[in-house]
Amino acid sequence: MTILTLHGLGKRYGSVVALDNIDLEVPAGSRTAIVGPSGCGKTTLLRLIAGFEMPDAGCISLGGTVLLDGKTAVPAHKRRIGYVSQEGALFPHLTIADNIGFGLARRDPERHKRIAELMARVELPVEMMNRRPHELSGGQQQRAALARALALRPRLMLLDEPFSALDAGLREAMRDMVGELLSAAGITTILVTHDQAEALSFAEHLVVMRDGAVVQSGTPQQLYLQPRDAVTARFLGEAIILDAVIVDGRAQFAFGDIAADASAPADKVRVMLRPEQVRMTAASADTANARVLSRAFRGPTCRLVVQSLSASANTITLVVSSLDSPEVGELLRLAVIGPVHVL
Ligand SMILES: Nc1ncnc2c1ncn2[C@@H]1O[C@H](COP(=O)(O)OP(=O)(O)OP(=O)(O)O)[C@@H](O)[C@H]1O
Ligand SMILES: [Mg+2]
Repeated sequence: MTILTLHGLGKRYGSVVALDNIDLEVPAGSRTAIVGPSGCGKTTLLRLIAGFEMPDAGCISLGGTVLLDGKTAVPAHKRRIGYVSQEGALFPHLTIADNIGFGLARRDPERHKRIAELMARVELPVEMMNRRPHELSGGQQQRAALARALALRPRLMLLDEPFSALDAGLREAMRDMVGELLSAAGITTILVTHDQAEALSFAEHLVVMRDGAVVQSGTPQQLYLQPRDAVTARFLGEAIILDAVIVDGRAQFAFGDIAADASAPADKVRVMLRPEQVRMTAASADTANARVLSRAFRGPTCRLVVQSLSASANTITLVVSSLDSPEVGELLRLAVIGPVHVL
């Protein structure tokens, strides 16, 4: 079931088209990640959904209620949408307790208990209640910002790169904690990130944006293995893109004759595969189909550029263990595990 529907959303700032005709459906209770390069409109999209900004065109509905169309505009504080911004943005002059309880009634006798519960849910020690934001670490501040957003019992949680200022280990732990917490509470979540690995691991539903538009959406697996174009392919991870001919539903290219995911015959296409689809073995001159062109040592791994013996313009980059990496000039047999994706 869809909980959030966006239709034809558009937003300009002067001559800048920040969003252009966005259509999107978000399934209830799901975790959606929006990825795209800096400036592609991710924050603008979240701010429109939250109601902090008005679009120039389009409609937004949440749980069957129209939040915005030509006639209606529900104000932000009545949308029941939680928002954790790129900066966290706690109020610096308020204690952590008052930040978390900001949207709760001051006189509510349950207020203190509720704040303590929210702190426990985001794993913030309750003793931090009377501290100010600058007395917390970056990760603790982001937890407090999340608790503040949870206090309003949101129907939808919008997370705008909330982990980007954290170091790698903490970032992963926070992401897992937040994901589990929101899923357990059944809160539909949209996470914005430029980090493709974060998006692929967090989301059940992935949306790729570029230049204010949605380029593609689907499951992380679909988008990773069947990206719409080469830019999307490279944005989501290392991609090997090679010239091929399609005959009888198979792609014939420098490293084999492999099942393709599009069967229309074509004599000049580009196919995409991921490095983990390539198996590499040492080979003699009779069986080799590739040669190591260059090698860069990176500690645990080496990055190899490997060239096809039959079509020298076709090179691929592979990362291998540095313990048994082949040398520059060594002959190899590369075998591809299909299917390959026709771009
Ligand atoms: N208030 C504003 N006034 C003018 N231009 C704006 C405003 N807010 C955003 N923009 C422009 O709209 C475009 C989209 O910005 P947005 O902040 O949505 O990008 P983003 O995808 O969130 O980028 P990042 O990954 O860097 O956070 C950019 O070109 C930006 O400069
Ligand atoms: Mg942004």
